Amino acid sequence: MNEKLLSLRDEIKSKLNQTTDLIDLDKIRVAYLGKKGSITSLLKGMKELSAEERKSFGAEVNQLKTQAAQLIEEKIAELKEIEIEKEIASMPQFDITSPPNLERGSYHPITLVQRECENIFTSMGFTIEDYPEIVTDYECFEALNIPKHHPARDMQDTYYLDNGQLLKSHTSAAQNAILKKYGKKLIDNGTPIKAIFPGRCFRNEATDACHENTFFQMEGVMVDKDISISNLIYFMKTMLSEVFRKDIKVRLRPGFFPFVEPGFELDISCLICGGDGCPSCKHSGWLELCPCGMIHPNVLREGGIDPEKYTGFAFGLGLTRLAMMKYGIKDIRDLNSGNLKALSQFTDDE
Ligand code: DAH
Repeated sequence: MNEKLLSLRDEIKSKLNQTTDLIDLDKIRVAYLGKKGSITSLLKGMKELSAEERKSFGAEVNQLKTQAAQLIEEKIAELKEIEIEKEIASMPQFDITSPPNLERGSYHPITLVQRECENIFTSMGFTIEDYPEIVTDYECFEALNIPKHHPARDMQDTYYLDNGQLLKSHTSAAQNAILKKYGKKLIDNGTPIKAIFPGRCFRNEATDACHENTFFQMEGVMVDKDISISNLIYFMKTMLSEVFRKDIKVRLRPGFFPFVEPGFELDISCLICGGDGCPSCKHSGWLELCPCGMIHPNVLREGGIDPEKYTGFAFGLGLTRLAMMKYGIKDIRDLNSGNLKALSQFTDDE
């Protein structure tokens, strides 16, 4: 290789030796091998040489070009490796033997009150039932003494599937199935029906701070011989006093629901003022909490139970409302928001 080419090769080598980053390296590549680079222009300048010279010089320049390209490739690989090592060194070091330092998740406020209610009711001998979210018109309405075109349906507009099924608008939709499931034991062995069934409910509602299209209820039924309103009051009062961890006063007001007779609205003494009257209870001293009543004879009959022999109560506790009251949540929409800042502050006491 001629002197000039040899010194050019040394020059490239020494420049490459001094380079420590890929950007500079690319500049070197352009300076020698780019369109206007020195090696490229040597090749272009060969036009002026004689045919003889062109042959030998051309071969040498091409050799230099190949060597330079190879040197640059090697340097690229070397620098990339150094970059990867630097990145690895800057990564946080995990000690797999040390205990994890991950933030713990938390239970949703509705899960918390649901579990609390479940524990209280199971301790009083109730079973917990699961029920689908998609039900039939019969389960949701007809079996509950709400025939087609009954005005009570207006309050419970929900979402309908093409096949006529619907998203249940209340947990009462499970009543018929529960009566049928446990009715035989009641009739044959005298075992009372005592069941609660928490679940997600849906209504075609415009949402605001107090209304949601998706919310949770917990239904409860008890059927036996001689069940009366006193039993209903006792169970509700016990459950609510446990949930709020203080003695809760309750009162019943008349309320209409086609599947109970008589039907009631159950109020609890205001948790904020203790019943004296304050803005939260509109100065009445009472908060509306749970509709309930004595199961209508038609509903018992539809569930295969003779209303002449047995009576029962039912209630539909708004779990969402209970969670809001218990934890002071002002906007119902926070509960379905997935907003961890709002939802993760309520921990399980256990
Ligand atoms: N299912 C009713 C609703 O969502 C609430 C209800 C009222 C349930 C009275 C009951 C009851 O069990 O006895 O509006």
